[in-house]
Amino acid sequence: MEDLDPTYIQAPEHRSDSNSIPNQPEEIPVIDLSRLDNPEDAQNVISEIGDACEKWGFFQVINHGVPCGARNRVEKTVKKFFDLPMEEKIEVKRDEVNPVGYHDGEHTKNVRDWKEVFDVYFKDPMVIPSSADLEDDGLRVVYNKWPQFPSDFREACEEYARHAEILALKLLELISLSLGLPKDRFNDYFKEQMTFFRINHYPPCPRPDLALGVGHHKDADVISLLAQDEVGGLQVSRRSDGVWFPIRPVPNALVINIGNCMEVWTNDKYWSAEHRVVVNTTRERYSIPFFLLPSHDVEVKPLEELISPENPPRYKGYKWGKFYVSRNRSDFKKLEIQNIQIDDFKVVT
Ligand code: OGA
Ligand code: NI
Repeated sequence: MEDLDPTYIQAPEHRSDSNSIPNQPEEIPVIDLSRLDNPEDAQNVISEIGDACEKWGFFQVINHGVPCGARNRVEKTVKKFFDLPMEEKIEVKRDEVNPVGYHDGEHTKNVRDWKEVFDVYFKDPMVIPSSADLEDDGLRVVYNKWPQFPSDFREACEEYARHAEILALKLLELISLSLGLPKDRFNDYFKEQMTFFRINHYPPCPRPDLALGVGHHKDADVISLLAQDEVGGLQVSRRSDGVWFPIRPVPNALVINIGNCMEVWTNDKYWSAEHRVVVNTTRERYSIPFFLLPSHDVEVKPLEELISPENPPRYKGYKWGKFYVSRNRSDFKKLEIQNIQIDDFKVVT
């Protein structure tokens, strides 16, 4: 058996065989969005989305309007990029000042992930705080990093992102309606959105029993839209008991999950689930998560309409941009302590 660099080794309780039910009968819902065209069925779709957000924090959508050609094109183009020699890939490497571009050393909870990634901002340029210091009002402008080869890399990414954003905002409206709020309740939060998307490449791994493609984590965003290929490996931890369930690849579906911002806005009604990616010895895997993020100056705190004396706020507010900058400084390397988490903002009762 091949040796694995110790930086990749997960603690025993986090490994892929821990607490999981492989071919379980229960599946996260697959929701057909073309049903929204039928006025008699639209309300059912909204309720099904609401139920999935509460029970799992995850669901899949089909007939969602993002053309599969746009997604296939990104995957094909990015494969050519990942096949380049490392000297060329690191020309567009992420750095501490601007955390987009190529990266192969990400740590989730201080253990290295078995993957390489390429990150792209949706808005280019994008405005972010200059520092994580709460007293510092300074802003700076950051730009995407595009490789020279393949020459249509940028165009393929931009085309996919345009479609994904339309769906993300549509889902946000449906989620808003499912909470009994007006459909445009969240719209103002996205004027200077910090949305980005990532292309994940998980190569075959000699020791999938010890390493993970991505260690267990919650997404910090509002919602994520994930396109995955047919290989599989994504798992979600069930809200009720923490048991791990695989998310079956459904052709042309997108996997949608609730992130920490939505969890905080709904005061924990909707659930941001822990998830992780299991790797395997023979097949490489690609996935493209699109992380919908608010503007840097949005204060993330439970919505007034959803709190009451019986349901007091469970979180103190935090400024999204400051959280992002602070988190990104720490994703690079192994730290002595765990990086900042949303639970740091929980109200202790
Ligand atoms: C992520 C993530 C899942 C996947 O990048 O945050 O959870 O299947 N990815 O690649
Ligand atoms: Ni994730």
